[in-house]
Amino acid sequence: MEILHVSAECYPVAKAGGLADVVGSLPKYQQELGHIAKVVMPMHRMSFLYKNEWEVVHKGWFRMGESSFDFTIIKEKQNKLGFDLYCVDIHGLLDREKIYGYDDDTERFLAFQVSVLEWLSKWNHQPDVVHVHDHHTALIPFMMKHCFAYRHLSQIPTILTIHNAQYQGWMGWDKATYLPAWDTWKWGLLEWDHTVNSLACGIKCADKVNTVSPGYMAELMQSANGLEHLISHESSKCSGILNGIDYSVWNPETDTYILDNYSVEDADSGKKLNKKKLCDDLQFDINLPLFVFIGRLVHEKAADLLPAVISSAFARFGPVFNFVVLGNGMKQVEEALDYLRNHWFDYYHSQIEYNEKFSHQLYAGADFLLMPSRVEPCGLNQMYSMRYGTVPMVRRTGGLNDTVIDFGEKEGYGICFNHASIDDVLHAMERALGLYRDKDQFFQIRERMMRINNSWENSASSYIALYQSIQK
Ligand code: GLC
Repeated sequence: MEILHVSAECYPVAKAGGLADVVGSLPKYQQELGHIAKVVMPMHRMSFLYKNEWEVVHKGWFRMGESSFDFTIIKEKQNKLGFDLYCVDIHGLLDREKIYGYDDDTERFLAFQVSVLEWLSKWNHQPDVVHVHDHHTALIPFMMKHCFAYRHLSQIPTILTIHNAQYQGWMGWDKATYLPAWDTWKWGLLEWDHTVNSLACGIKCADKVNTVSPGYMAELMQSANGLEHLISHESSKCSGILNGIDYSVWNPETDTYILDNYSVEDADSGKKLNKKKLCDDLQFDINLPLFVFIGRLVHEKAADLLPAVISSAFARFGPVFNFVVLGNGMKQVEEALDYLRNHWFDYYHSQIEYNEKFSHQLYAGADFLLMPSRVEPCGLNQMYSMRYGTVPMVRRTGGLNDTVIDFGEKEGYGICFNHASIDDVLHAMERALGLYRDKDQFFQIRERMMRINNSWENSASSYIALYQSIQK
């Protein structure tokens, strides 16, 4: 089959979160299964762009409201990612430093989607499926069916993957005039709660809709930031497919970011060397258990709890552990985390940035990874951590609940808790401290989790089955 993925992010080209990891790896595994997978994304101003060779494959223009835009589709020449990568260049609109966060994001992502369809409508063949990811690309199924210019694409099956239903791409009705001429009888497909809601529209118009874990799909039917009734109503075309992780990138045996490579057989010594390096750099005592939090400092990830959790844990348990936070996000959380360094500098470190390399080093060197997320559609970090033999401590929600079994249960290996609250996290840390003292059990569950296969192999074929189910 030929699959065209459309996404705002793709690792290693541009990454804000897990969406990039999925779009950077799923297509590779689909290629390995013998399919042709292509990715098209905006040409953000990213270093990947300057470090690689590109060829122009298409040039075009379109109108959006009063303005007209020229766009260029460029293709990476060397197949660096293991699949064909295309970027949409719209000068002044997409070529920016950040992926999101501009006042004109609505226009930017509309322009991106229209460019993709302008280009696709000039192909001399059609792909077997168009696979769109999250709200930034969720108007594509509507446009393929109901914009007059793209009607000849209406037979191509479409699938929408929801990586995060909190953000829905809302826009005022005035922006509907930005879409290429469309059948106004179909306005109800764009509408949700008196606005144009891109995600809701994608859910209505795509042939299949999936989330990135079965647990998250079940949760969305109860609560989806206002879309729960819609999702329940469309449940017959909805499913959950658990994400996998890219085993070629996330492999402690070959990872070039970490100090000492190791496998499940020599994880004890391998992790110790990696921990030593980290502890030497941070001037930590290597004998203490090392907890880490890696991720965006946002409400969904319950990062706002961290300052109080960390200071209460030191107050309650004493200086018997080390803690490292890596990530950026909400300003007041960043500041509160940095402030803690004044008090606990021998035991605590915060690094307020996105740093891919340091994250690998933390997975390799840490003992415990904390994920108290309020919302976690799948979560990849717990899977990276398991692969690197670091015990995941997770709130029972969405994909975390689908992938981590508490060590108190049969065949368990992680630490699970119910609420994103300071008390629950402290209780989980107390259990972690106990587990760390019981070295036999600690090593046993480390081995158990490292042997779990969370690669894309299974899920990549579930997607193919889903595509096949909608061939027209
Ligand atoms: C989003 C979700 C995360 C998921 C990722 C990839 O970032 O918040 O849970 O793992 O997308 O699907």
